[in-house]
Amino acid sequence: MANRLLGKQAQDTTVLVTGGAGFIGSHTVVELLQRGYNVVVLDDLSNANPVVFDRIRQITGLAADDPQLAFVEASILDRAALERTFSTFPIDVIIHFAGFKAVGESVEKPLEYYWNNVAGTLVLLDVARQHGVKNIVFSSSATVYGEPDSVPLTEAAPKHNATNPYGQTKSMLEQILTDTYIGDDEWNVVLLRYFNPIGAHDSGLIGEDPKGIPNNLLPYVAQVAVGKLERVGVFGDDYPTPDGTGVRDYVHVVDLARGHVAALGWMAGASGTPDGGVVAGDASISGPAAADGTRRGVGIFNLGTGNGSSVIDVIHAFERACGQSIPYEVKPRRAGDIAENYAAVDKAREQLGWQAAYDLDRMCEDGWRWQSNNPNGFEGA
Ligand code: WQD
Repeated sequence: MANRLLGKQAQDTTVLVTGGAGFIGSHTVVELLQRGYNVVVLDDLSNANPVVFDRIRQITGLAADDPQLAFVEASILDRAALERTFSTFPIDVIIHFAGFKAVGESVEKPLEYYWNNVAGTLVLLDVARQHGVKNIVFSSSATVYGEPDSVPLTEAAPKHNATNPYGQTKSMLEQILTDTYIGDDEWNVVLLRYFNPIGAHDSGLIGEDPKGIPNNLLPYVAQVAVGKLERVGVFGDDYPTPDGTGVRDYVHVVDLARGHVAALGWMAGASGTPDGGVVAGDASISGPAAADGTRRGVGIFNLGTGNGSSVIDVIHAFERACGQSIPYEVKPRRAGDIAENYAAVDKAREQLGWQAAYDLDRMCEDGWRWQSNNPNGFEGA
């Protein structure tokens, strides 16, 4: 089967974005639409608000009835809905975000996480292959590395046991997708390992909108800045890091979204190793490029900036962005946290032709604009 991406213009390509109403998904949908791709979002809205589609159309200037963007409200577990979707739209490639993603919740509800994230992806892959769709970009995570042996983390770094069921589902799905390629080399698989996605589209119209009290640092800091929460709890200041607080590689969500567009290019053989060979990350999968010259195989890429920032660095950057001081208090370490991780970013630069453009201050400026314009997120919008 010829790779449906090869030589096709964006305007002739349809991308199924599962979880496309979510934080990273919605930013990716904007980038795809602005480059002319046709987009079908499949999302069960379990962690998203449909108002996001109005905002996406506002950003891209798309009329409400413009078919360049379609939406199907469904779970990836719903085989019938997936069958209808693949029968209705000429899908060429899948960008797969849909999945539960709260670390703490995954510890309390492991079965729900394995069922939704793993079983749901198996249903998606089965229906896709029945419709001849074998191109998938998967939303993976640096959490698959577990506690790193050393930093910066390269894609060849060993995958240690993830410290929670959420991370385990990411690791399992990487293996499932790799084995899917090994069993049928017509597949094109890209595993994108996100570090810490933060910030928002510079319009201030879309951004991170967690339900309830935020688990992650940035939305928590932003809600303190906007007055919804009293102070930031800093989970430990006794780590072996410059100021004792946890260090992470924060990456602007728009940079991250553009990494997904670059992954489509990689799939179509647009960039990559000079020999055009199949490239894999830690799994040394080698195989011929397909007869039609496109690449097949598993591409594994870190999406980060290559820079580590501590919790205190982030608080200070956000203070610069919002122009006010942000109170915080040091609390005990959070179970399962690692001291430090940040990405080696050479492979994405050399083979995807992608690198992050925005720094921590820009991430906080854009995040603040979203939060201050939408103190309650999409609620009541
Ligand atoms: C960042 C740093 C905390 C909150 C996880 C997942 C990853 C992705 C992002 C899903 C750490 C500290 C945090 C707070 C704090 N998940 N912190 N006070 O844990 O690096 O990554 O979320 O999309 O896959 O693993 O992100 O933002 O929770 O924590 O001090 O209130 O901030 O200890 O050092 P994390 P995080």
